[in-house]
Amino acid sequence: MKATIRDLFGIGPNYPIEVKEGNHPMVPKVKSYIFRPGAMSDLMAWFLASKEPLLITGPTGSGKSSLVEQVAARLGQPLYTVPCHGQADTVDLFGRYVVRNGSMQWADGPLLAGIKDPAGAWVLLEEYDTLPPGVFVSLNALLEGRRFILPETGELVDPAANGARIICTGNTTGVDDTGGEYAGVLRQNQATMGRFVVMEVGYASPPEEEEVLIKHFPMFPRERIKVMTRVATLVRERYITGDMPVVFCTRTLLRWVYLTEFFKKKEGIGGDDWTSPLHHALDRAVGFKYNPTVREALHEIVQRVCGA
Ligand SMILES: Nc1ncnc2c1ncn2[C@@H]1O[C@H](COP(=O)(O)OP(=O)(O)OP(=O)(O)O)[C@@H](O)[C@H]1O
Ligand SMILES: [Mg+2]
Repeated sequence: MKATIRDLFGIGPNYPIEVKEGNHPMVPKVKSYIFRPGAMSDLMAWFLASKEPLLITGPTGSGKSSLVEQVAARLGQPLYTVPCHGQADTVDLFGRYVVRNGSMQWADGPLLAGIKDPAGAWVLLEEYDTLPPGVFVSLNALLEGRRFILPETGELVDPAANGARIICTGNTTGVDDTGGEYAGVLRQNQATMGRFVVMEVGYASPPEEEEVLIKHFPMFPRERIKVMTRVATLVRERYITGDMPVVFCTRTLLRWVYLTEFFKKKEGIGGDDWTSPLHHALDRAVGFKYNPTVREALHEIVQRVCGA
């Protein structure tokens, strides 16, 4: 079935693209989502004009994973997620022998299962930059779409056979974690990193972020959403200038909103004044992770923005 980019994502050109049909179990569920023009145009350029894998980099909670998930959902695209970590080995990616019915049988790992899916899947390596570099290098042939033999089984795997596409997300570009804020990320092999189309997903602009919040909490008053988004923006500005260590991502902001909504109803915290649950929820959303001085500075920003 064909549908236009504009019909599918609410933005972009009236350019028709293929939407996969059927009830494939690996197609993510459609959720409310705001597709941002910059990220969408980069993602569509990769999808429509490139055959190479894609690297999506950007700060935590900016919307990397959810973008891939929600684009896949609307394209009817099966999505296999591979959670990466520092102890991951090739067996975690490709597969292993397991005992089944009393005998050893080969079980494909999520990466291989995605590559071999006849429906032509997207394979998403989450936090790819935590992988040991040697393990990531072992994917070079696969990243180039070249056929390889699986040593354990002798199986010939052709990554191009089904039209599978590889996407990696991470908080760094694999060069290094310059700020040191993402523990566990590793400098990756530059030859491997050279095989990717790269796009960056930064934090949404304040109007975009307000839209995201409205999508998630349509009943929450708009002027409060404005206030809370403004606080997040100011905290991020202070983080960039080195004046505040608080990471205030979209994920945190969403948590702050729903906790404010919850505590509003709680006796002794709620009542007519919304600023009391606002402050109470702020600590539970993010403040308690930091020392009392930082926490106080956070609450001062809230006071300044909403005058309470
Ligand atoms: N444009 C958007 N529309 C709706 N929700 C969004 C949008 N962007 C981010 N979110 C929400 O913000 C949260 C964080 O997004 P996501 O998990 O995609 O971030 P991430 O960049 O992958 O973070 P990390 O680097 O920590 O993995 C999710 O709950 C997601 O649904
Ligand atoms: Mg993510």
